[in-house]
Amino acid sequence: MHLFSCESIGLSLGGRSILADVGLHVKPGEILGLVGPNGAGKTSLFEVFTGRYQPNTGRVMLNGEDITRLSIHERARLGLARTYQSPIVPSSMSVGDVFRAAREAYKPYLSRFDAEWGARHAHLHVSWDRQAGTLDTFDRRKLMLACQFMREPDVLLLDEPASGLINSEIDTLDIIIRHQADEFGIGVILIEHRLELLTAIADRVVVLDLGEIIAEGKPEEVFDDPRVRAAYFEDAGHG
Ligand SMILES: Nc1ncnc2c1ncn2[C@@H]1O[C@H](COP(=O)(O)OP(=O)(O)OP(=O)(O)O)[C@@H](O)[C@H]1O
Ligand SMILES: [Mg+2]
Repeated sequence: MHLFSCESIGLSLGGRSILADVGLHVKPGEILGLVGPNGAGKTSLFEVFTGRYQPNTGRVMLNGEDITRLSIHERARLGLARTYQSPIVPSSMSVGDVFRAAREAYKPYLSRFDAEWGARHAHLHVSWDRQAGTLDTFDRRKLMLACQFMREPDVLLLDEPASGLINSEIDTLDIIIRHQADEFGIGVILIEHRLELLTAIADRVVVLDLGEIIAEGKPEEVFDDPRVRAAYFEDAGHG
């Protein structure tokens, strides 16, 4: 039994096929990279995982339970957490208020201590009086990560967490994420459209192109796969 998996996922939106026969799994403590050119269907697959999109075929499993028909909230309660591609934070709220709202969105309510714990594990070192909207991109991403870490999820879905960050920040981000996987056995699925960024962090990668998985393996093996190279080469200039 896998910690988290999906099988035969098919998804159509507005009469168009977005995902076809997608299957993958992640183990405790594993970081799975989900990579593919723009428009490949990566975010749509996360929407299927979290319950915003209902797939036409297939199923999603968490800890041995079929969660395909559960609501977004039920899935979160069972230990599924995600972050979004755009680091949008409630700009007029203070960091402390964002944490309070996130704590109170969870039942049973999380404590201020949990939020401090999340902030520490996300390496978020800012005053809690700061307006969230004044934080730079990395601190916004850390704030969003902290709000997920404090829930102690089993599975963490991260949608392009490195987007907009400079290299030294990406190195820190890798440490933050790796620690969650190693220390707490969290299974991580990390979306990134730049294949090269996954060599440092991913144990394994799955390559999605035009809604289908075209390759899977260690990052360095996948790099050399002709189908993967073709998918990226054709996409060059469109990203
Ligand atoms: N709600 C929707 N209705 C119709 N089409 C959609 C919808 N959401 C996504 N799509 C389409 O599904 C395809 C996959 O989009 P998706 O956002 O999942 O790709 P992605 O791999 O996350 O891309 P990116 O790297 O740009 O974030 C795109 O062609 C997109 O236009
Ligand atoms: Mg996306």
